[in-house]
Amino acid sequence: MTARMFPVAGRHRDRVYVITGGATGIGRACAERYAQEGAQVVVADIDDRGAAVAEAVNGAFIKTDMSQPDQVRALADAAISKFGRIDIWHNNAFSAVFKPIHEQTLEEFDAITGVGIRGYWMGAKAAVEHMRARGGKGVIINTASVQSFVGEKGFSAYQATKGAVLAMTRSLALDHAPDIRAVAIAPGLIKTDAIKGIPEDVMAEVIAGIPAGRGAEPEEVAALAAFIGSDEADYMSGTAIILDGAYLAIG
Ligand SMILES: NC(=O)c1ccc[n+]([C@@H]2O[C@H](COP(=O)([O-])OP(=O)(O)OC[C@H]3O[C@@H](n4cnc5c(N)ncnc54)[C@H](O)[C@@H]3O)[C@@H](O)[C@H]2O)c1
Repeated sequence: MTARMFPVAGRHRDRVYVITGGATGIGRACAERYAQEGAQVVVADIDDRGAAVAEAVNGAFIKTDMSQPDQVRALADAAISKFGRIDIWHNNAFSAVFKPIHEQTLEEFDAITGVGIRGYWMGAKAAVEHMRARGGKGVIINTASVQSFVGEKGFSAYQATKGAVLAMTRSLALDHAPDIRAVAIAPGLIKTDAIKGIPEDVMAEVIAGIPAGRGAEPEEVAALAAFIGSDEADYMSGTAIILDGAYLAIG
């Protein structure tokens, strides 16, 4: 890793952080980072590997399919019953099949948007309701993408979710300002399972298009997420923070 990590001891002490898609990749790194900074962490994922992540951070694993309304509601309720509050809710889960539109089925579109739009919205709704019920402040973090801003071939359904996430974040920021902030993170290429299937030659081409000359580690996204959820970021809301090694700067 090129970047060095500097967790801020105690920055999230007494806070409860819920991360969806926390079993792997960016979500796992975020769970670890928030725990390092003192938070009580709830790891939600459809994948049982979330249990080991939760155990490692002394948190709780709630197996959740973020496309299912009753399970999303149960996740928020479990966070409250276990830790008494939700301070930061991070919508991050995704599942997608990347294909050109003429090969993509409607069922695949529904599954992708079911997690990436509907799931984010249901998560934000459950979190906001709990935050308001205890009259407190809170932060919603939504993992978006550079694809919220630019097109790439073969990603129509996925990109629809990431555009929606950005628009949703703006609206969430207005609903209960200044008490509840909403901020999107727009990562570029991050080295997780999500990019594992990309053939080597294609990956070399992708990297060549990134001025930083590399993909980022999930820990670099986690460092940003920990800042966004902190009081130091109190004036940050309704926007997306891009972490892309200057990929979008090329225009
Ligand atoms: N890796 C990248 O290059 C990159 C770039 C831009 C944005 N992102 C975004 O970052 C976020 C995290 O992706 P990642 O790269 O860490 O991928 P990942 O595949 O490592 O993690 C995604 C997680 O979501 C979980 N998940 C899938 N379906 C679910 C469901 N129905 N309910 C609950 N959990 C479910 C998976 O089990 C997995 O643990 C996603 O929103 C993705 O769109 C990633």
